[in-house]
Amino acid sequence: MIPHPSVAQETTIPILTENNALVLRAGKNGDLGVIFLGRKLSNAAEYDEVPGMFRQGDDYTNSLNAAYTPSGARNLLEPAITVTHSDGNNSLDLRYVSHRFTKVDENVSLLSVELKDPVYHFDVTLFYKSYYREDVIEQWSEIRHREKGNVLLQKYASANLYLKGDRYWLKQYHGDWAREMQPEESQLTHGIKTIDSKLGTRANLFQSSSFMISLGTPATEDEGAVFYGSLEYSGNFRVDLELDYLNNLRIIAGINNYASAYTLKPGESFVTPVFLYTFSDKGKGVASRQLQRWARTYKLVDGNGDRQVLLNNWEATYFDFNETRLAELIKDSKKLGADLFLLDDGWFGNKYPRNDDRAGLGDWQENKIKLPNGISSLVREAQNTGVKFGIWIEPEMVNPKSEFYEKHPGWVVKQPARAEHYFRNQLVLDLSNPEVQDFVFGVVDHLFTENPTLAYIKWDCNAVIYNAYSTHLRNQSHFYIEYVRGLYRVLERIRLKYPKVPMMLCSGGGGRVDYAALKYFTEFWPSDNTDPAERIFIQWEYSYFYPAVSSSNHVTDWGKQPVKFRTDVAMMGKLGFDIVVSKLSENDLRFCQEAISNYKSLKDIIWHGDQYRLVSPWESEFASLMYINPERTRGVIFNYLVSSRYGSGSKLPVKLKGLDPARKYRIREINLYPGISSLIEGEKSYSGDFLMKVGFNPQVNSGRTSVVLQFEEVL
Ligand code: GLA
Repeated sequence: MIPHPSVAQETTIPILTENNALVLRAGKNGDLGVIFLGRKLSNAAEYDEVPGMFRQGDDYTNSLNAAYTPSGARNLLEPAITVTHSDGNNSLDLRYVSHRFTKVDENVSLLSVELKDPVYHFDVTLFYKSYYREDVIEQWSEIRHREKGNVLLQKYASANLYLKGDRYWLKQYHGDWAREMQPEESQLTHGIKTIDSKLGTRANLFQSSSFMISLGTPATEDEGAVFYGSLEYSGNFRVDLELDYLNNLRIIAGINNYASAYTLKPGESFVTPVFLYTFSDKGKGVASRQLQRWARTYKLVDGNGDRQVLLNNWEATYFDFNETRLAELIKDSKKLGADLFLLDDGWFGNKYPRNDDRAGLGDWQENKIKLPNGISSLVREAQNTGVKFGIWIEPEMVNPKSEFYEKHPGWVVKQPARAEHYFRNQLVLDLSNPEVQDFVFGVVDHLFTENPTLAYIKWDCNAVIYNAYSTHLRNQSHFYIEYVRGLYRVLERIRLKYPKVPMMLCSGGGGRVDYAALKYFTEFWPSDNTDPAERIFIQWEYSYFYPAVSSSNHVTDWGKQPVKFRTDVAMMGKLGFDIVVSKLSENDLRFCQEAISNYKSLKDIIWHGDQYRLVSPWESEFASLMYINPERTRGVIFNYLVSSRYGSGSKLPVKLKGLDPARKYRIREINLYPGISSLIEGEKSYSGDFLMKVGFNPQVNSGRTSVVLQFEEVL
């Protein structure tokens, strides 16, 4: 038995943000519990009155609401942490030792709470980083021990929370390629609901680690209590939601321990990824605006900065291009009014040219037939034309048909004695290996060294991990974790050397959208599905968790809708194009040019303003959402018809949100197709009060399938 400081009295530890409180309490016996999570009390002294431990058995010392539930001692429910000690014993207990608040700056505080096992030399520190104005908390844990030998961590969650309510409604997301972010909302029943991924890379492909929980009844846009959670991690994750016998909800989120028992040496520390959460008692809209604001300020690269409208060649050419064709496309970017031309897949590989997705991946040398003068001549061409140049890479992956694979068969993830198994004809590189990390960093570094004015990277990741095995690692149970660590090491090095260059996080669509990856990126690619009829829904759902500035929405030829509809839909985030400009009719081209110029005058509001969802496409025949600047003087409303049934459209006015009731606003229609006049009477002005209580009809119907309205204060 090792001595540990006993706690003479109960200690209540409130973590306060502008509207919310998360309150921990250490009981007299040292058990640390979550006693409150919700809208904060007016009088902070009253947190002491909140009932403390929630019982597990007949003994009050066993708490269901443990702030980090250990296993093998007094707990019989789902643990946050399970270990096998160096002596083979599976029992862990964790008692409160001390806590400390550190002020990071005027908005951010960090609470650390020390926990200790009374029997083993085993410690955990819980960290809660709180962002006051944004009502956001980031939580993670650090695990250490000083036992005589190694300890096996069998489960090691980032966070363990406890919600109290009478009913819980989980909104979760599933998906697949081109079907990202499909929502489902259901009432949680007793027992454990697990949301997880075992894909290794592209971890969010089938399920997202972002979710919401409403308390009582499903929260709406503007009403109800709702908790948003998301794991900042790009590998296997696991979220356990356990509804206990007292009808309270235990949330345990972290790395998926599947095939990943982690051997921790004495003196080493294991730091978990961050679990991110926010809470609102005023519905999903408030919670999402909190998160969006937080992401722009604290997470995304240059979240409050500028972005470029780009023209991509993927759908215009696929793998079939040459210098002349690209020179034309570069000129088309300029003609369109775009800022940047993005060269996609297919520019590399010589022995095995990348002419389709079966060969060449991994051989990052320009294909001499397609590009005899190299990338640098294209960069120059772009410069001379007055646009910037960006490039696609997928540096974590190889085709077996590549020179790279011939040279480095030991650098890929595969089982030594089993047949190779491919996803999109490719294998994943073993990023746990520092030599491979150097190689991947080198792909990016080489491009920039050769082309210092290169202005954009699209970083793709198209395969999941089959046959997980690393020739580099001695302990295969560390593989999934070391892969992700290796990935972050590379991205860290890239950002150290190239801090500002815009990078798009792509994973065959949105297979890897999470806030740990987004720390290194300016934007993400929500889905390869760019059919606007689908994108409205996909973008709508991403918008709950990610700000518009980070969502790359491109106008393509997917879908049957006119170019106006496609452009209007893409404009609700970061606008881009992937079309053959030369094939546009004169009017289509004129429309796109004017739309880009409208977009440029509104982009600051779309990217950095507040977003309000007005009419949900899931619940109506049309969708409507608006953005407004912080001064509440200017904004834009996007309206899209989503039903093709006869007579569908906006029959009633749409109530606006977030306006100043006392101000007067004028609303006029923009993005009008050449030759079409608006049905909207643009000269009239209305009070914010009127627009929020009575509303305004955008007049969306089968003849006006998308309507973009700009509003402005009238002085
Ligand atoms: C993935 C991306 C696409 C495109 C292709 C290229 O599917 O999501 O946008 O870049 O790869 O192969």
